[in-house]
Amino acid sequence: MESFPHDKHVLLGVTGSIAAYKSVLILRRLMEAGARVTVVMTSSAQQFIAPLTFQVLSRRPVYTSLFDPSDEIRHLTLAEQVDLILIAPATANIIGKIANGIADDLLTTLVTASRAPMVMAPAMDGDMWNYPVLQRNLSVLDGLGVHIVPPEEGLLASGKEGVGRLAPEEKILSAVLSRLNRREDLAGETVLVTAGPTQEPLDPVRYLTNRSSGKMGYALARAARGRGARVILVSGPTHLPCPANVERALVQTAAEMRDAVHRYFPETTLLIMAAAVADYRPRLRSEQKLKKEASTLFLELEPTPDILADLRSERGDRIMVGFAAETGNLLKRARAKLEQKGLDLIVANDVTQEGAGFDLDTNIVTLMNARGETTALPKLSKAETAERILDEIVKLKAGSRPKDRTLR
Ligand code: CTP
Repeated sequence: MESFPHDKHVLLGVTGSIAAYKSVLILRRLMEAGARVTVVMTSSAQQFIAPLTFQVLSRRPVYTSLFDPSDEIRHLTLAEQVDLILIAPATANIIGKIANGIADDLLTTLVTASRAPMVMAPAMDGDMWNYPVLQRNLSVLDGLGVHIVPPEEGLLASGKEGVGRLAPEEKILSAVLSRLNRREDLAGETVLVTAGPTQEPLDPVRYLTNRSSGKMGYALARAARGRGARVILVSGPTHLPCPANVERALVQTAAEMRDAVHRYFPETTLLIMAAAVADYRPRLRSEQKLKKEASTLFLELEPTPDILADLRSERGDRIMVGFAAETGNLLKRARAKLEQKGLDLIVANDVTQEGAGFDLDTNIVTLMNARGETTALPKLSKAETAERILDEIVKLKAGSRPKDRTLR
């Protein structure tokens, strides 16, 4: 795990879940790592665990109330002082309140007053986790840049099996660390990311597409934004919410994606083509729904524009990154694409490997740069994979451009 930055002040919000006792272990881990931790408890959290436990272990007062006449304006001072707010466990109630801007106790008022980054680790019963309103609230928070550490599957307090168990301490700690260690090393860059599949219509109700979910491209957009870049996301059809503070253009076909990329290319300093662009489209698009008349139906397909390859001559000193999803001969094929499309970096993955590829939350990729150097990354979450890809891009940028060009 990365090292904990020096002298960071973490606010640990504890809410009323049976998992509240696990916050004690999280507190201890944070302190062992060298963080200063101030604990704020909601009133229902105190039904599960006493403030004294946190007070003794954190060696600091535990705050539980908005109205304490002996103190300064606590929600404002604490809100300004902390480097990060971690809410673990986070109940459906606190998620609903924060997603909707309600501030009716110390913790929610503090969150409203603070601009510190926030990490939330939900824990609740499986049926509550699947409640559509809760999921909508989580999407709102995710869109606002809150880092959600999802609960895991297992035995729940109700005795049922399901998703709702608080994520393991390791995962919560590593989310806290990655937020605290976040670098602004893409400040001044305009990053254009493409994501998702394209759909190539056959008739008004049918289209040709592929299995891309868009998750890798969206993770890259979010990570680049987190590192200070202006980010434009050109996205094929997906169900993913637009990441916070990212400009998004929605497209359907490869031709529309090409047009959108060309529109934003002049202002772009770094292009990451993570989209799974269809290579062929039906030569004719029927205006009417095709009828089941013939015993065999032949489709005539024509190639779509190769967006990356076509930009080769106009690229200037932009950094160009492509993806190669393969089912064999990974490095050879990735290298051929890198050369043919004139890329600085290609992100190659073998989609037949377990834990890699479409519609998963993890990926296993190999990075190859224009010098042919490769870095094989282990199986990582798509968020972590995105960070590693950006680390590599930052290295390339430092090597390829004079220092005064890196900030514009
Ligand atoms: N790409 C593109 N335009 C296309 C097809 C692909 O810009 N019409 C981009 C993809 O976004 C990706 C890279 O090119 O970054 C490689 O895509 P891939 O489909 O793996 O490669 P192809 O060149 O299409 O080769 P093949 O499908 O034969 O493997």
